[in-house]
Amino acid sequence: MIEELKQIGCESLEAISELESLESLEQFRVSVLGKKGKLSTLLKGMGKLSAEERPKVGQVANEWKNKIEAALGAHKEKLEVAALEQKILNEKIDVTLPSLKSYTGTLHPLTQATRQIVQSLSRLGFDVTTGPEIETEYLNFDSVNIPETHPAREMQDTFFMGEGVVLRTHTSPVQMRTMRSQSFPLRILCPGAVYRADNDATHSPFFHQIEGLWVDHGIRMSDLKGTLLFFAKETFGSETEIRLRPSFFPFVEPGVEVDVTCPFCASGSGKGKGPCKVCKDTGWIEILGAGMVHPELFKHAGYDDPKISGFAFGIGIERISMLLNGIPDLRLFYRGDVRFLNQF
Ligand code: DAH
Repeated sequence: MIEELKQIGCESLEAISELESLESLEQFRVSVLGKKGKLSTLLKGMGKLSAEERPKVGQVANEWKNKIEAALGAHKEKLEVAALEQKILNEKIDVTLPSLKSYTGTLHPLTQATRQIVQSLSRLGFDVTTGPEIETEYLNFDSVNIPETHPAREMQDTFFMGEGVVLRTHTSPVQMRTMRSQSFPLRILCPGAVYRADNDATHSPFFHQIEGLWVDHGIRMSDLKGTLLFFAKETFGSETEIRLRPSFFPFVEPGVEVDVTCPFCASGSGKGKGPCKVCKDTGWIEILGAGMVHPELFKHAGYDDPKISGFAFGIGIERISMLLNGIPDLRLFYRGDVRFLNQF
């Protein structure tokens, strides 16, 4: 038996040094030292040995077992080192290869325009507030003095969501929401998306506005004019002048449309040098609607102070961004084409 042990031992030591992978090493270990391995199978016969022989054989068996284990351990370490070296070789980095192109995102031009407007007007003390895009018909229309019979309330212009609920057609209802939930003085800007059933090169069913509202005792038309002049100079340059033309919006009285001197061709008084596609040689560009808050709105807001007054304005953000960046088609804003967006 001692001879057989020696044979298994010698053969094993030789075989181990030739194993090439960690898996075959483990398989080999099981085939020799495992429960059903060669060594165990041989030692099962020990019961038949005499009492003197048994301890001797046991000792020899242990010695071989230790030798085999030691050889397995040493070879395992060798294989592991080799595997690591191979891995390092495979993962070698070629620093001369060109790098992958990385793309950095930019803010959408409408977000940029919104932030620019908010930033400049916040210097006059305006705070930003927002309202929901799904709005009640009452807040979108009735409360801002747009009567049931007004054409804007017809199916062709408004997206109706259900009984008494619409997609807001302008940001003006946020004026009302704010007045109904806070007392004055108020100086707010309400940026956000608005919706109208309109779709062509100059109208989108989805676009953006910023509503402005300033309510306090003694607010006058001159405050409106000063605020808008400041906004125009901040946005289009310090040379810019504004012009107020009488107009009608149900939520203001008097109401005005506001023009700025054409930033492309006019200077000072708004005399365009032409030829200019943007202002069509008039030297003026219409940019927003505004006016003094209609007293009817204060009633809906629950403000009954006789000395209260205020002004409001509504700016189309797309229009401002188109003017600032020379963007020719409104639809470019919503296509998500990176070739367009990358330019900003
Ligand atoms: N709500 C108007 C619109 O969507 C814009 C507007 C005009 C807002 C005059 C105002 C304003 O606050 O005073 O066309």
